Amino acid sequence: MHVFTTAAALQSFVEASRRAGRRLGLVPTMGALHDGHLQLVQAAAADCDDVVASIFVNPTQFNNPEDLRLYPRLPEQDTALLAGAGCTALFMPGVEEMYPQPTVLHFDFGPLERVMEGAHRPGHFNGVATVVSKLFHMARPHRAYFGQKDFQQVAIVRQLIADLSFDLELVVAPTIREADGLAMSSRNRRLSPEARAVAPLLHQVLEQAASQVRQGLAPTQVQAGALAALAQERQFTPEYFEVADAQTLQPLAHYEAGRSVVLCVAAHLGGVRLIDNIVV
Ligand code: PAJ
Repeated sequence: MHVFTTAAALQSFVEASRRAGRRLGLVPTMGALHDGHLQLVQAAAADCDDVVASIFVNPTQFNNPEDLRLYPRLPEQDTALLAGAGCTALFMPGVEEMYPQPTVLHFDFGPLERVMEGAHRPGHFNGVATVVSKLFHMARPHRAYFGQKDFQQVAIVRQLIADLSFDLELVVAPTIREADGLAMSSRNRRLSPEARAVAPLLHQVLEQAASQVRQGLAPTQVQAGALAALAQERQFTPEYFEVADAQTLQPLAHYEAGRSVVLCVAAHLGGVRLIDNIVV
């Protein structure tokens, strides 16, 4: 596996790969890799001739400086995991390489980003869209792999690809969970044993709410029930629980036949912010 730290080195690899007629898959990550990330690499390796994974803890998408400072960084372990999963090139740039000058461009995704993560983390999707655009330009992938774990991020990236005519296919992979249902996340490493013990409640509440949606319980009642269930566990501080249209991500007043519903939750647990979702 090649390891590149400069855009120029990555670009010459990518150009050689393209000239040889090879199909290239890109898996953008922030590292501290787990099976959720590795399934994206494995899917890319199954579909493509070359797989570029990136590891970059992108400062512009962190609205909370403490979260950025505490974000786990495990480059050696990550490198070994990627090589084992079928990655052909790892791109691990420093901040100066990705941001040689402060960016001034601003993205506005309209209603898509005025809800949930966009509403609660000001500037977050601007940072995601900026870095993902840069990575798309640098790696020029035929396919880019993202996880459903970050449901709203997928919607934003889909819009970005369409609006900026990126010539690539977006591939979305399912959320990988621990045996007890907790969605895998790099931030889970920061949970204390006490917090980790109650963390699966997030997924249990989503499952419970999903069955209520299937039974036709009104969205406001589903939401109220889920927030109350989370509040039962004192270690949790819920930030939001939304019953939304899976396409537009707008909160639902009532269900419409033929349209998927997504349930999205964010909560703080022992100083760690967790998100999860389920599509009904
Ligand atoms: P990160 O949180 O490292 O996630 C990288 C990719 O892995 C994302 O597409 C995310 O949705 C996916 N992923 C994370 N946990 C997952 C799980 N349990 N199951 C399935 N997929 C999972 O998302 C980011 O980084 C950044 O915002 C990034 C896109 C790299 C831009 O900086």
